[in-house]
Amino acid sequence: MTVRTAALVGAGVIGASWAAAFLAQGLDVIACDPAPGAEARLRQAVADAWPTMERVGLAPGASPDRLAFTTDPAQATGMADFVQENGPERLPDKHRLFAVLDAAAAPEVVLASSSSGLRPSDIQSACRHHPERVLIGHPFNPPHLIPLVEVVPGERTSEKAVAAALSFYTGIGKRPIRLRAELPGHVANRLQAALWREAYSLVERGVATVEDIDAAIAHGPGLRWALLGPFACQHLSGGPGGIAHTLRHLGPPMEDWWRTLGDPGLTPELTERIVAGMADEMGDRDPAVLAAERDELLTLLLAAKAATTTLQ
Ligand SMILES: NC(=O)c1ccc[n+]([C@@H]2O[C@H](COP(=O)([O-])OP(=O)(O)OC[C@H]3O[C@@H](n4cnc5c(N)ncnc54)[C@H](O)[C@@H]3O)[C@@H](O)[C@H]2O)c1
Repeated sequence: MTVRTAALVGAGVIGASWAAAFLAQGLDVIACDPAPGAEARLRQAVADAWPTMERVGLAPGASPDRLAFTTDPAQATGMADFVQENGPERLPDKHRLFAVLDAAAAPEVVLASSSSGLRPSDIQSACRHHPERVLIGHPFNPPHLIPLVEVVPGERTSEKAVAAALSFYTGIGKRPIRLRAELPGHVANRLQAALWREAYSLVERGVATVEDIDAAIAHGPGLRWALLGPFACQHLSGGPGGIAHTLRHLGPPMEDWWRTLGDPGLTPELTERIVAGMADEMGDRDPAVLAAERDELLTLLLAAKAATTTLQ
């Protein structure tokens, strides 16, 4: 199905960012959110993101004026060819919402949840009509800039719905991946959690400061990870022998390192050390300025990647 109108159910942080992404791709968007003042906040968030979207590139006909708003999820869903749900991250809320969405949407319309951690099988259990079109379409914040979307089918999700979601996200310039199992945190957040576990452990063990660990990533492997994933980096590290050579050569030491990785708990002492370490690292820098500079660089990086033939 060609998607011309997308519904956004829930217009908070993620819903508003999706709105900018969808509108920039020339879609008609109908958003819904029952919170007082939600429409004004959404329109402001889209207006704030629009200069960035113009730099990233607008599809023909793209306009913030193509955003409509209602407080009624059934009305939004009934008008849409694709539904992206961004309500509160609590299963009872998702159940109430998905029962409404399932009743209101045409049978072939995909109902994608942005949920960061809930199982799609649990969400789709609220859908009596067509649970086979329910799945997770988990974006990475902010979805108007970050291309990754994790598509996770539940036990009752059809291959047709998975294919439709992958095709929709690809068509709007996203980089979806399809997961083969439902796990808390999907894939990208689990990978982050694995790194954070060791980072927290290194601070706990006094091996390095918060600032040095941030430097170790931001001025080291993080630069490569924005271009190639961890496996492709290992492949290139192996020279002509590729990852097979890397694993013969560096695999055994890597296994030794795995055996010494930490398993910290978030004790009050460790939390205090992390918070104090972050204050040292920030100094008198304004986090809002830092975030704006990060987003500006991210826009340039995305444009530079899009201009290559191999790093897209
Ligand atoms: N914030 C992130 O970094 C992030 C990243 C990826 C995915 N997510 C996921 O996106 C979803 C939304 O997260 P968020 O950070 O935008 O939360 P948020 O609190 O900013 O927004 C949730 C919105 O849902 C609205 N809402 C409540 N009941 C509703 C209803 N019945 N119908 C429609 N809207 C309703 C609220 O008024 C609110 O505006 C969650 O499932 C979360 O796990 C969040």
